[in-house]
Amino acid sequence: MKKKPVVVVTRKLPETVETRMRELFDTRLNLDDRPMSPAALVEAARTADILVPTVTDRIDAAVIEAGRGQLKLIATFSNGVDHIDVKAASEAGITVTNTPGVLTEDTADMTMALILAVPRRLVEGARHLVEGHAWDGWSPTWMLGRRLAGKRLGIVGMGRIGRAVAVRARAFGMSIHYHNRRRVPAETEDALEATYWESLDQMLARMDVISVNCPHTPATYHLLSARRLKLMRPDAYIVNTARGGVIDEAALIRLLESGEIAGAGLDVFEHEPVPDPKLVRLAQQGRVVLLPHMGSATIESRIAMGEKVIINIRMLIDGHKPPDRVLP
Ligand code: DGY
Repeated sequence: MKKKPVVVVTRKLPETVETRMRELFDTRLNLDDRPMSPAALVEAARTADILVPTVTDRIDAAVIEAGRGQLKLIATFSNGVDHIDVKAASEAGITVTNTPGVLTEDTADMTMALILAVPRRLVEGARHLVEGHAWDGWSPTWMLGRRLAGKRLGIVGMGRIGRAVAVRARAFGMSIHYHNRRRVPAETEDALEATYWESLDQMLARMDVISVNCPHTPATYHLLSARRLKLMRPDAYIVNTARGGVIDEAALIRLLESGEIAGAGLDVFEHEPVPDPKLVRLAQQGRVVLLPHMGSATIESRIAMGEKVIINIRMLIDGHKPPDRVLP
């Protein structure tokens, strides 16, 4: 590519990232900052050398087909790639990259915040005052939650974020348990004092808190199925900062409503951006804390994600393999 490559960015990015991208590339920004329509995405793929989508864009086979022959790279501004048909992209000769590693700490912080917030009824207590409800002052029996120290945390997916959650939870006195496709190296297990459960079912039945930290792939779709969720103890909590599709959300709602699971902290949903009204009702009752997909929402993470996108683009246009290639 001799001319500056045409880079289409689907959403507003942090100012510094946009400025740098404008300097380096023929960058076409989405000034609306609203998710592009499927037709606009098809048009973008048809005209761009490089597409920079986010998790709110479905980069499906139709978008990829439109980019065949012209589009060289899909450099997603995200760690997750479940919104992209990576297999179709690979078949069309289009490289896909993501932004791993730079949002680990912030996503783990948000996970820990939910692990704390749900059993300690943080949001319920805060809302009580903000909404102006009567408060008779401190009471020995009011707003009682559950202690974290000494409890068992079961992490589903022991990648970067899962490990960073383990570090935090240990500092709160929780014991660490995990299930992962592959057992992590012994040094990692030793450092985290983590117990490996080959059987997810057995782990689910024993834990006080479950944290979902695995990517959403065809293999992990509804990994936390109705059958598996039923294995959880009635006094256990579940937290999800990964992707909504990893949990059978309808089944989770039923179990929360019937009291067979004590509570949930959810930053992600099966159908974003509108969470199931039944979840909203449970949140109003205080059993559930809902957040609008904020795991990586810090200035630091978002700038670092932008820097990763830029590095991946520059490597590709300089004829090298971008460092964060995603394989089908
Ligand atoms: C990701 O990067 O996949 C997050 O879910 C959004 O930042």
